[in-house]
Amino acid sequence: MDRTERSALPPATTETPALHIDNLSVAFNGNPPTVEDVTLTLMPGHVLAVVGESGCGKSVTSFATMGLLPDNGEMVSGRVELSGHGDLTTLGNKELRKIQGGEIAMIFQEPMTSLNPMMSVGSQVAEAIRTHRGISRAEAKEASISLLDTVGIRNAAQVYTSYPHELSGGMRQRVMIAMAVSCHPKVLIADEPTTALDVSIQAQILDLIRNLQSQNGMAVLLITHDLGVVAEMADRVAVMYAGQVVEETDVFTLFRQPQHPYTRALLHALPNLTGPRDDLQVIPGNVPSSGNMPAGCRFAPRCNQAIQKCHDEPPTIVTHTAGWARCWLPTPQLAPVEVAAHV
Ligand SMILES: Nc1ncnc2c1ncn2[C@@H]1O[C@H](COP(=O)(O)OP(=O)(O)OP(=O)(O)O)[C@@H](O)[C@H]1O
Ligand SMILES: [Mg+2]
Repeated sequence: MDRTERSALPPATTETPALHIDNLSVAFNGNPPTVEDVTLTLMPGHVLAVVGESGCGKSVTSFATMGLLPDNGEMVSGRVELSGHGDLTTLGNKELRKIQGGEIAMIFQEPMTSLNPMMSVGSQVAEAIRTHRGISRAEAKEASISLLDTVGIRNAAQVYTSYPHELSGGMRQRVMIAMAVSCHPKVLIADEPTTALDVSIQAQILDLIRNLQSQNGMAVLLITHDLGVVAEMADRVAVMYAGQVVEETDVFTLFRQPQHPYTRALLHALPNLTGPRDDLQVIPGNVPSSGNMPAGCRFAPRCNQAIQKCHDEPPTIVTHTAGWARCWLPTPQLAPVEVAAHV
């Protein structure tokens, strides 16, 4: 295995990524960064899943990528390269607004925070379409009804006039997806798109995202807690812990040969649906907060394999044929690669 001091390495390929987030760090209220040196590479037409426990920085990473951090948040370093548009962090507000929703769109974790309660859902979809396409109101209405129909809303013409509070959670989520994909974005960030929905609606929403992805060649950054969803949807997976990516690999390697003890712990925490309930293991302890990070590996206090070095020194990155892990003691089964091939 090869070690490098670089914080992360993109996959070795000559194809231009749809989205490349490079060394992103975000801090709130001038405190130490909550998200630190996050590098993620999303290839065109691919699904990159981002997983990790609550509070690991998944949503903060996606808000920063979209240029939608709240006022008390600051991107202290990093670049967000969107194919064909360069580094989004260097764009002015006007240019950014054009790209948001048009080229890169987001399905938010909580639909009510992004739907306007005072406007009918149809007018909101129509407005999203009119912002990015120069079409008439009547054409935008027709396109919106057709889109609501595409995302599986029955009686789309009737639902067009409904207000968000009149719809179920699953319906609101579909409206959000309709808004997000209305202008055929090249990149869709889906932040827990199925949280709080019942299982059959979850499956329908994921099918919908997958269909739109294969029809439009859209790349998807899929944020989820659910490793079952990862197994079904993802090409590659980034595992986040305490504001950092700790492992990045292809989906097969993630499940067959996870390299980081945190990834292994997450996999063991998966409930075994066929086994007795006490098969369910949770990871003891809590994610450390940004002002209280351990000196060495951030996972060391919760890691059952930690040696003294893990407590003392932040791990460098180990690369292998399928990806990389930020760990002093990765599972030593995968063939190493030449670091030079990536740089
Ligand atoms: N506006 C804010 N001000 C201060 N801290 C914030 C703010 N937004 C997020 N944070 C902090 O950033 C950290 C990461 O939060 P984030 O919402 O990205 O977690 P997450 O991985 O998306 O979790 P979940 O799975 O619960 O959605 C948390 O500790 C959170 O408290
Ligand atoms: Mg979140």
